[in-house]
Amino acid sequence: MSMTNVLRSILYDGNSRSLKVLNQLLLPHKEEYVDVKDSNDGYDVIKKMIVRGAPAIAMVAILSLAVELADKSFDSPEECTKYIESRLDYLYKSRPTAVNLGDAVKKAKEVARNAALDSAADIVLEYAKMAEIMLEEDIRTNERIGKHGSTLFEGKDLEVVTICNTGSLATAGYGTALGVIRSLHADGKLGMAWALETRPYLQGARLTAYELVADGIPGTLITDSMAAALMKTRKIAGVVVGADRVAANGDTANKIGTYQLAVVAKYHGVKFYVAAPTTSIDLHTATGADIPIETRADDELREVQGVSIAPEINVWNPAFDVTDSSLIDGIITENGVVLPQNGVFDMRSVCSS
Ligand code: MRU
Repeated sequence: MSMTNVLRSILYDGNSRSLKVLNQLLLPHKEEYVDVKDSNDGYDVIKKMIVRGAPAIAMVAILSLAVELADKSFDSPEECTKYIESRLDYLYKSRPTAVNLGDAVKKAKEVARNAALDSAADIVLEYAKMAEIMLEEDIRTNERIGKHGSTLFEGKDLEVVTICNTGSLATAGYGTALGVIRSLHADGKLGMAWALETRPYLQGARLTAYELVADGIPGTLITDSMAAALMKTRKIAGVVVGADRVAANGDTANKIGTYQLAVVAKYHGVKFYVAAPTTSIDLHTATGADIPIETRADDELREVQGVSIAPEINVWNPAFDVTDSSLIDGIITENGVVLPQNGVFDMRSVCSS
């Protein structure tokens, strides 16, 4: 039996070539899907964070173009390839930090170029096939991450901490860090998943809490500022977080607040793990200092769900931060766990190319 749960952020129908994404801005109050008809819609739903999470962003970008291509005609295969490349370049600009999008765009361009001698219809077909495989592969990848992650923990009634949303909503299904938590629960090891609310966008409160409740996984919501007190007063088995980009040396960009959580975990002697597919590893980025960090709108901080909570004061609103690899005890991928050897992560060991 597949471990995949029913909550789906992305609904893609290969026969009718239709794409719908769950509007995550409305969760947990309303489950409403938004139609994505072309790459312009794809760009918009990513930019507005109607869909978010590194793997989900990559897939929606690629699928949005698959849907658009189904209704288009081209005079030549060259014209078709050119069009695909230009739309992918546009989609790539939607959000800068997660490398999964760049990785998917690169693979999609290769498919379009390799099919360039065929007819335009063949290129479109090849593109759609690739997009569908990517979607199916993501769920299997996450299930493998979950299995590898669970082996890092021994015992039962274990309490783990996580930040942001890395579950079914952030991926094609199951999730990365939340996938590890799902596996711990399925393996009878989990006592409690502590979810940080994740200011300012509240992915923890709105989305992770929603997934935990929906799946009957024991969970408790805390504010980001409670993590240190939690680790001081309770026996925490580990922290598991996702990643938007893992640099070649293991430095990891993830949701703002992750670095602070890693520092607090180190101070309290709590293990700190990153769970991410190999598509989140960027071997071309040497260290975390080279990872572009997205800055988001000031009002995301001055408002909560559209209600003003602060005057028109200056705001600093980086969406992500970088956790030094020296604070990380292991990076869990679908191909196994990378552990530091003499303090150094060899991320190449789990990457095929
Ligand atoms: O800004 P978001 O909500 O897209 O940020 C998401 C995160 O930081 C996740 O932890 C990361 O993308 C991993 S999702 C499997």
